[in-house]
Amino acid sequence: MASSTKQIPSSVIIVGSGVFGLSTAHALATRDEFRNTSITVLERVDFPAPDGSSIDSSRIIRPDYADGAYSLLMAEAHKYWRSEFGADGRYTEAGLCIVTDEGDGIGEGDASDYMFKAMENVKSRLGLKVGRREEGGQVEPLRSASDVSRVMATMEGDCGTKGYVNWTSGWADAEAGVRHMRKLVERTGRVNFRTAEVKRLVFGQGKVESVELVSGEQLQADLTILATGAWTPKLVDLRGICSSTGQILAYIDLTQDEQDRLGKNPTLLCENSGMFIIQPRDRQLKVARHGYGYANPTTIDHPEKPGEKITVSLPRTKLDDENLNIPAEGDKACREFLRKSIPYLAERPWTHTKICWYTDTPTGNWLIDYHPSYENLFMATAGCGHGYKFLPNVGQRIADVMLGQDRDALGKELRAKWRWPQQKHKTDHIWTDDWRGGKKGMILDEELGKSAADVKSSKL
Ligand SMILES: Cc1cc2nc3c(=O)[nH]c(=O)nc-3n(C[C@H](O)[C@H](O)[C@H](O)COP(=O)(O)OP(=O)(O)OC[C@H]3O[C@@H](n4cnc5c(N)ncnc54)[C@H](O)[C@@H]3O)c2cc1C
Ligand SMILES: *[C@@H]1O[C@H](CO)[C@@H](O)[C@H](O)[C@H]1NC(C)=O
Ligand SMILES: *[C@@H]1O[C@H](CO)[C@@H](O)[C@H](O)[C@H]1NC(C)=O
Repeated sequence: MASSTKQIPSSVIIVGSGVFGLSTAHALATRDEFRNTSITVLERVDFPAPDGSSIDSSRIIRPDYADGAYSLLMAEAHKYWRSEFGADGRYTEAGLCIVTDEGDGIGEGDASDYMFKAMENVKSRLGLKVGRREEGGQVEPLRSASDVSRVMATMEGDCGTKGYVNWTSGWADAEAGVRHMRKLVERTGRVNFRTAEVKRLVFGQGKVESVELVSGEQLQADLTILATGAWTPKLVDLRGICSSTGQILAYIDLTQDEQDRLGKNPTLLCENSGMFIIQPRDRQLKVARHGYGYANPTTIDHPEKPGEKITVSLPRTKLDDENLNIPAEGDKACREFLRKSIPYLAERPWTHTKICWYTDTPTGNWLIDYHPSYENLFMATAGCGHGYKFLPNVGQRIADVMLGQDRDALGKELRAKWRWPQQKHKTDHIWTDDWRGGKKGMILDEELGKSAADVKSSKL
């Protein structure tokens, strides 16, 4: 291991206790280098934050990345999910069915051809068994709509025209995973947890002087780590670097019989629309979209320049407005996907809906680096809608970056991907172009305005 190029801080404040904050706290609390470091975690509401991006009924745990570095990082995480970390229902390996609903089954030049090519690669490189699950297959090609229907049998609908199932993928009970990580951190006896909202960082010459709480109290530390997820643009100027985007979730209640039947399917993910349905849990089914999302432009005091104002997208959640539901546009997208894939649930009303916030960058890479202008400020954020699965191990990689250590080739590659960008994006707001569904450019208030004008359909 390369020797550390950074001094070990004697005190660290981690702001935020979602995936990035807790995983980092765990890594620091268990590493020898930090044995004499005092570690404090601040969280703005009582843990677990009900509107935090890491808290939900379920999250997909998938190794299927086009980017090899995240696949390798996931292979590392997978070992944890498959052992104690994923025990007691925290992880279920029920498979992930990735489909497209465009085109008409297998054909050359089709956008989804890469899926089959990828599978051939996997077969030769990793030795995964290709074939049906009943025959011990780990990856199963679905070459026609009837193949898709066979695998998603209990949905009884039209789930896609082709794709594949990765039977080695699964899903996590998101809240339970985060609670477990918090318990592991508590068990080290090394971390002081406080419920307190950071109002702002107080900046001095090239550094953070202190962390000011909403109560007015000021806390000092050698190093401040921002793991504040979608709220981060409030605390440092991230225009052109990363932006918060609101994503839609809608839930319905199931009978026990429906739970038993639908629980047998793999997760369904439609790659061209971004729509997905994870296995139901506790008689609740979730329909969601991995989309460009909604921007929520909000004018606030410039976090670094007193007297100036800036406009950035910030989360709006049920804690800000208990009546906040998804806009009619999103409601319709979820409803149509449900109707098509599970026709017998077509008209069952949502028990509730919510908007969950991604922290997006132009490339989908995270932001894990020192702030270029403040030497004692470290960023651990920008999960871009795919950070959850790394809860068990991302903190170790974050600690490596903090210490300037590359434990292996992957560490070096990740450090380069996660660097503070040399250049800002050409626009202040970022719309990530990975494989997002929905329209690009939607503004939350505008979409909610349309909903209000059409309350009837949004209630349906
Ligand atoms: C709808 C949705 C679906 C997703 N699906 C998947 C998936 O299937 N698989 C996957 O791997 N990933 C998925 N993700 C992504 C994953 O959930 C996120 O990348 C990850 O949870 C982000 O963690 P975080 O720690 O950055 O943010 P958070 O969990 O939001 O943590 C930030 C914390 O900081 C606190 N905080 C904020 N501001 C302050 C302040 N000023 N003072 C004190 N505390 C503060 C907040 O309360 C919060 O608890 C999904 C995300 C969403 C929203
Ligand atoms: C921690 O402090 C003790 C006592 O001062 C010292 O002996 C030890 O080397 C320190 N450990 C680290 C990792 O700095
Ligand atoms: C399926 O999962 C395995 C790991 O569990 C992964 O290596 C592979 O790339 C995934 N995708 C395909 C298409 O095999």
